[in-house]
Amino acid sequence: MKAIQIVNEDGPDSALALVELPEPEPSHMLTPGSGVLVEVHVAGVSFPELLQSRGQYQMKPPLPYVPGSEVGGVVISAPAEASVKPGDRVAAFCALGGWAETTVAPEYFTFALPDELDFAQGAALVLNYHTAYFCLKTRGRLAAGETVLVHGAAGGVGTASLQVAKGLGARTIATVSTEEKRKVAEDAGADKVVMIRDGWKDQVIELSGGGVDMVLDPVGGDRFLDSLRSLAEDGRLVVVGFTGGSIPEVKVNRLLLKNTEVIGAGWGAYVMGKPDLNRQIGAAIGEMMEAGIVRPVIGQRFPLQEAAQALHTLDQRLAVGKVVLDVRSP
Ligand SMILES: NC(=O)c1ccc[n+]([C@@H]2O[C@H](COP(=O)([O-])OP(=O)(O)OC[C@H]3O[C@@H](n4cnc5c(N)ncnc54)[C@H](OP(=O)(O)O)[C@@H]3O)[C@@H](O)[C@H]2O)c1
Repeated sequence: MKAIQIVNEDGPDSALALVELPEPEPSHMLTPGSGVLVEVHVAGVSFPELLQSRGQYQMKPPLPYVPGSEVGGVVISAPAEASVKPGDRVAAFCALGGWAETTVAPEYFTFALPDELDFAQGAALVLNYHTAYFCLKTRGRLAAGETVLVHGAAGGVGTASLQVAKGLGARTIATVSTEEKRKVAEDAGADKVVMIRDGWKDQVIELSGGGVDMVLDPVGGDRFLDSLRSLAEDGRLVVVGFTGGSIPEVKVNRLLLKNTEVIGAGWGAYVMGKPDLNRQIGAAIGEMMEAGIVRPVIGQRFPLQEAAQALHTLDQRLAVGKVVLDVRSP
């Protein structure tokens, strides 16, 4: 089968190689001896792969390896206890190995894909939408009627969070950096969109009537302090990532003075060994799909062999929605 491997850690331009590999066995590292074999049609591209191409990601498999954490495709074989069967269209989270014509995923990370969603949307479903649900609900305790500020709102996690927040009955305010991204956030269902330039904090406080109940922050960096200042009493800032490039620090007296919280939310590390939690989150997202609320926004598409271009899109802050690789002709 055709696959992309990471062969060194010198960055997108030289780290990736298109190779021929044997088909994988139906056994996944998280479920040794068992796994769902998937014929991959579309693979998702995410920040971790950009970091992996530079050796900067926390998970460091020995070189060379096939990256790619999630796919949309068709089941080739599945263990008896799986909820999917051969021939089913699925969205699957494989953690690694997705940038290939065939991959293998744990049964509890493989979800039936309804007819309304295409394979690209399937490749955009698990990582971002499960992360969004985990951050907003499991960790952040978002309740119906609350208001949440979503940073990086036109990105993969951002668009997913806008939709999941809506599914949870919350009101959303999105921040974005360009007019093109404003349109993406609006299309993803943001109630209000604010440009991330001088004065965004005051606009957010005004739009929310005195402060938001939650900030969902995949960006970090220098907007962190103003995010804390945007919180209402009892507000929660959920730390999701650091695309802004720097890891902010907080003087905890700010939390005391305003009765607010900063909450860390790392989906992968938390859910990997918890099959039931994944099934629960999958069921909640499934209901939102059925209700027409969850509709992954697909951004730039590249053929598998142009994976380096796809990584540059993320690196240059150009991604809108989910960037994907067409592994087979669409
Ligand atoms: N905690 C978890 O469990 C978890 C799970 C999945 C992903 N993540 C993390 O979440 C973050 C977002 O992932 P994603 O897939 O949504 O990425 P993405 O699609 O590239 O979106 C990231 C957004 O960050 C904003 N941004 C601000 N400064 C940036 C910069 N210097 N470079 C690039 N983007 C910048 C951009 O929005 P504007 O231009 O509009 O500001 C961009 O749309 C990543 O750090 C990822 O590792 C965390």
